[in-house]
Amino acid sequence: MQPTLSDRADALEHEMAAKLEREVAPIRSPLFTAGERDPREPRHEAMDAVMAGKKLLMGPDPRLPPMPAKATLIDFFNNRFGFSQHMLQSARLALNNGHGEKVAMACLLHDISVIGLICGDHGYWGAQLVAPYVDEEVAWGIQAHQVLRFYPDESVGYAYPEAYVQYFGEDFVPEPYVREAYEQARQHKWYMTGRLITLNDIYAFDPSVKLHIDDFTDLIGRNFRQPEEGLGLDHSSSAHMWRTMMWPTRAL
Ligand SMILES: [Fe+2]
Ligand SMILES: [Fe+2]
Repeated sequence: MQPTLSDRADALEHEMAAKLEREVAPIRSPLFTAGERDPREPRHEAMDAVMAGKKLLMGPDPRLPPMPAKATLIDFFNNRFGFSQHMLQSARLALNNGHGEKVAMACLLHDISVIGLICGDHGYWGAQLVAPYVDEEVAWGIQAHQVLRFYPDESVGYAYPEAYVQYFGEDFVPEPYVREAYEQARQHKWYMTGRLITLNDIYAFDPSVKLHIDDFTDLIGRNFRQPEEGLGLDHSSSAHMWRTMMWPTRAL
């Protein structure tokens, strides 16, 4: 049987992507490979690729879903973030508990760095990422939730999460800088915003509910200043971080 036009188009697309990968190398930053390889080794993927006669990738990675020219927060949820159900369900819980839009928005974004950028110190990375686009209190809460979640607050019924015993072990004690940051946050005027994120930060997902980021379009519209030029291209203080998520394997 003759291949159809669409079969031929698929095959061509495949071939082009493979060719691109052979000739134009996507580059993983040293951070991506540290541990798998000794970061002190005088090697770099870019140098390896040059030695192999390849060009270095300086644009979008053809293996990833393409991003629109003017990317919105929702485009990042759809094209770059995998495990967003946790944040969506946390935001929904905050709304159901009547905590208001600032807390719900903070819940919706609280682990954005875990699912899109960098895991360690995710509260700080996440807060910096969204700071130019949200209320200062929302960004502050996102940063603070990271350290607050390790410490109970009986006044709101927050206990040390049992899940953490499973994740980190019985003997885990947060580092001194975490405790210091917690003590500072405790004194802050927005303490409760950060605390409410931890309170609505759900570990047990409701499998009967499957939320979509589109369910939060109105909340986002009112609480996230989407830049006209697109995230990453608006010259904000965190634009480079959005570009890194858009084009994570660009050589430079
Ligand atoms: Fe978190
Ligand atoms: Fe979380």
